[in-house]
Amino acid sequence: MPALLAENLAKTYRLPGAAPIRVLDGVSLSVEPGEHVAILGKSGSGKSTLLNLLGGLDRPDRGCGARIEVAGCDLLRAGERARARLRASKIGFVFQSFHLLPELTIVENVRLPALALGAAARRGATERARELLRAAGLGDRLGHRPAELSGGEQQRVAVARALMNGPEVLLADEPTGNLDASTGMQILDLVFDLAGSFSSAPPALAMVTHTDAIAARCDRTLRLEAGRLV
Ligand SMILES: Nc1ncnc2c1ncn2[C@@H]1O[C@H](COP(=O)(O)OP(=O)(O)O)[C@@H](O)[C@H]1O
Ligand SMILES: [Mg+2]
Repeated sequence: MPALLAENLAKTYRLPGAAPIRVLDGVSLSVEPGEHVAILGKSGSGKSTLLNLLGGLDRPDRGCGARIEVAGCDLLRAGERARARLRASKIGFVFQSFHLLPELTIVENVRLPALALGAAARRGATERARELLRAAGLGDRLGHRPAELSGGEQQRVAVARALMNGPEVLLADEPTGNLDASTGMQILDLVFDLAGSFSSAPPALAMVTHTDAIAARCDRTLRLEAGRLV
């Protein structure tokens, strides 16, 4: 069973007073557990739109036979609460601009996804957050807030947060896009290392990138062109 399966995803943006824009036009993909897939494409080709659909942050157009399954669970046909739970327990997301909460310490940021789960997951959450951050090389910064860290360090925190609940699927939207080349490579190393050691089974990774050297380290490369994956 693939960790992530998507079929017939279409997405049209409709803004008042403008012609609708069909950004995705029948995208299908399948990613196996532990497989690393890079998604490339020009700016504006719909890469972020695709990742947001895969992560359940947005919904595809209706009526096109769209289907998204995460570890065998149907993301689109689940009700609101089931979908939120599915997202929290099975999907981790890393953004280009880190998206950490500034008023929380980095331990509190990393622990946050566990609060969406049951009491059992919450119980050991603070200790797991600390372990993730130590493994990410931030053991001496645990009480710090994001603004006290460099961009590369903030992205380390975001990677740790994405892995907090041991997701089956890790989605990363240009995770190295705001970092210099060598810091970007270190983040990729961290993604690969932490994903392997903090999950019971290594998650599938779908990662948007502009950087050929990053894509080259993935198992497979897909390119978005004219609304389709080629
Ligand atoms: N919420 C939105 N409303 C209207 N248009 C959008 C919205 N989000 C993205 N778009 C448009 O969809 C296209 C694809 O955007 P995006 O998925 O961000 O591309 P990429 O990540 O590949 O740069 C762009 O033309 C963008 O302007
Ligand atoms: Mg984008």
